[in-house]
Amino acid sequence: MSVIVVQGYYPLKGEIEIQGSKNAALPMMAAALLHKGATVLDHVPMIQDVFCMMGILESMGCVCCLKDHRLTIDASQVSKAQIPKDRGKAMRSSIVVLGALLGRCREGKAYYPGGCSIGSRPIDLHLGALRKMGAEIREEGEVISARAPRLSGTDIRLSYPSVGATENVILAAVKAKGDTVLRGAAKEPEIDALCRMLVSMGAKIQGIGTSSLWIRGVEELRDISYEVPGDRIVTGTYLSAVMAAGGEAVLRRGSPQCLGRVLDTMRTMGAHIRLWEDAVEIAMDRRPKAVSVTTGPYPDFPTDLQSMAMAVMAVGEGEGYLKETVFEGRFATAKQLHKMGAEIIIEGSEARIVGKGSLKGAKVRACDLRSGAALAVAGLRAEGKTMITDCCHIFRGYEDICGDLRNLGGRIRRES
Ligand code: EPZ
Repeated sequence: MSVIVVQGYYPLKGEIEIQGSKNAALPMMAAALLHKGATVLDHVPMIQDVFCMMGILESMGCVCCLKDHRLTIDASQVSKAQIPKDRGKAMRSSIVVLGALLGRCREGKAYYPGGCSIGSRPIDLHLGALRKMGAEIREEGEVISARAPRLSGTDIRLSYPSVGATENVILAAVKAKGDTVLRGAAKEPEIDALCRMLVSMGAKIQGIGTSSLWIRGVEELRDISYEVPGDRIVTGTYLSAVMAAGGEAVLRRGSPQCLGRVLDTMRTMGAHIRLWEDAVEIAMDRRPKAVSVTTGPYPDFPTDLQSMAMAVMAVGEGEGYLKETVFEGRFATAKQLHKMGAEIIIEGSEARIVGKGSLKGAKVRACDLRSGAALAVAGLRAEGKTMITDCCHIFRGYEDICGDLRNLGGRIRRES
């Protein structure tokens, strides 16, 4: 069991490159199943969830090789259309493999997915859409069995812009018979990346970047090499770290152009931010000012950076406000920040944060991936040492959060 130890009160200063996007890489890996050949992905993050997805693909007969952030997936032979239970339950993304299996094998067996405990996270929108495309889906306990002699394109409207459900429909529609029109689709940048990768493989998709996607089924796809975009949430995490600790940083390859609402919020809190090409520069020479933030589907403020905003406001000045509209159980960070002396009042889906200027180091627990990262951010502006346990959650999505923050001047290390 490893822990992360943070020694607070050191400003940050440095320049780093941001890892590839976890939430883009995972559906892109599932997309490789659709092609009876090789798919090469570059800038793949070396994280637990990627290794888990590799295991899922290999259990089906794919041959995967990941070296120096380059992942080669040979899906010429897929002999088993079943997601292994342990891996399927280890992460939420496993459920989008179902859409790809139906597209490739006309059948698939999956388990109710696991992942961060941030709410109930049902999959009704996924299954409802796949059924509309002609899939026969049986739910028996935690097992989901699906078969579709021939998926048919159809008109689908999602009642909520679910990222995963949008990905599942896209993956099932690419090789379905006829046209699929998906309305109410999620517009997260990770969806764009998936669609652009599929188009380069020979898929026919229009409306990319909008909430209405048109997909015409094709028979064959082709070998490609494609680059995973930088992880905008990791970028937002490290920008938050500079805001909490003070100092300055340059973050390269981190898709800052996908963080519009976040950068506006950070500027309002007092950060000086400059953008160019695929890099973002931040300088923070004051305590963060309190703001009101409401999370929502893209392009609203991302729910994945809500915990970071809470940590930054906890070490800022004034009374801030957070409203979480995406997941009903995503305020776990507050209880851990309380141990560090934060003053946070939770009322339903709303949080009020009274900025203290700094916190006190304490032993805290990572409850989920982003909440754990937020504790590291808070620890950078805490007197003394902060020890974060259960940090395995953090390593699911951050390739080297300790190394990255150390390269920016942070006093943080992983201890077994
Ligand atoms: C993706 O999860 C991301 N995960 C999440 O990031 C992210 O927080 C989320 O999108 C929102 O942006 C990956 O991409 C692997 P949703 P997903 O379906 O697809 C409800 C991280 O930290 N819903 O858009 O599961 C659901 O309960 C992770 O990297 C249904 O009701 O999110 C939630 O309230 C955490 N029925 C809301 O929609 C469904 O069938 C948004 O969920 C599906 C979703």
